Amino acid sequence: MVSRRMVLGAGLGGLALVSAGGVWRVTRMPQTAYAPWSLDGQPPEDIRLDAFRHAILAPNPHNRQPWVIRLIGEDEAEISCDPAKRLPVTDPFDRQITIGFGTFLEVARIAASERGYVMEAELFPGGAAQPRLDEAVVARVKFAKVEGLESDHLYSAITQRRSNKEVYDPAKNVKDIQLETIVLDGGAFSADPEFVAQLRTQILKAIEIEMTTPGPHRESVDLMRIGYKQVDANPDGIDISGPMVEAGIVAGQIDRAQLADMNSQAFAIGLEQMRETYGSVPSLIWITTPGNGRADQIEAGRQYVRANLQATQLGLAMHPMSQSLQEYEEVSGAYREVHKLLGANGEERVQMLARVGYGPTIGPSPRWPLATHID
Ligand SMILES: Cc1cc2nc3c(=O)[nH]c(=O)nc-3n(C[C@H](O)[C@H](O)[C@H](O)COP(=O)(O)O)c2cc1C
Repeated sequence: MVSRRMVLGAGLGGLALVSAGGVWRVTRMPQTAYAPWSLDGQPPEDIRLDAFRHAILAPNPHNRQPWVIRLIGEDEAEISCDPAKRLPVTDPFDRQITIGFGTFLEVARIAASERGYVMEAELFPGGAAQPRLDEAVVARVKFAKVEGLESDHLYSAITQRRSNKEVYDPAKNVKDIQLETIVLDGGAFSADPEFVAQLRTQILKAIEIEMTTPGPHRESVDLMRIGYKQVDANPDGIDISGPMVEAGIVAGQIDRAQLADMNSQAFAIGLEQMRETYGSVPSLIWITTPGNGRADQIEAGRQYVRANLQATQLGLAMHPMSQSLQEYEEVSGAYREVHKLLGANGEERVQMLARVGYGPTIGPSPRWPLATHID
């Protein structure tokens, strides 16, 4: 998965070529893609809609937002996967997509608690879909009002949470006590420079493999939304927007064909930037599950989003880097090394690996409105 920083540098090259008309255009930003993050005003009366308008803000792989919601009766809903939103090359068994259902369900549960409701979920009522997810129900959920229910303390972080893909401040160390708090609900951490350096080597190896192997690279390029018009038209995938990008588009230096071409300047700059961000690792957290069944993957998503929300409350930036955990052939060496380094034995599976540090403040990533998820 490739962050939106990837082509900002390519845009820098184009900036000098921008005409007066271009300058007008480069001030343009996506207009509607971030609207789902504004949850001000009267919440919907139906608790399910309130919970799900928060849940669609959950982190999810490649921002595919694969969630399909079917409302049932007064207080239940079924959540299933839109098969077109899977990532067959980099996520051949839909492991990461399933983690993105864990994050969704957990955020829904947290939001429901804020209104005094518990949300109970029955996972895969028709059996766990293997080896790939299909249209079968991932979770059936039921909401019930409970007098005196305590709101989840992570609620306030839901709209502030980000996957921060920028370079982190090398001079600011993250303290063990902060990392301990981040993984309180599951996960492990290290800020030990030697250990982090060993993992960093594998992380960098894996992102380089992903970017230079035609199948995985193509999957990313196909999901890029390049410039504000594309981002507003399809508020998902890999959003590449901002003044530099608009300048690069106007200058004819950024388009899908150039980003797909591994010999282009845009690609070279993107790869270099990726090394820079993926190499900026003050500390790491990871989440390991005892097995790799669907319930393990959902649980990993739950733990991951709680860690991300907790980091948000501590003012820390977090960025998952999943390349070395993926299941396609070319990356299998890094996969083995990372599992070995992180002590995952036997059936144990590392589901998430993320860097944590102090990063610049960034805005939210695009989202489709809730209504588009409701079947
Ligand atoms: C299972 C999973 C794997 C992810 N892997 C990566 C990754 O390898 N690289 C990356 O830049 N972001 C990764 N992300 C973060 C998503 O890209 C991000 O959640 C999505 O773009 C939405 O952005 P947001 O989290 O800021 O709302 C991952 C997220 C999840 C849930």
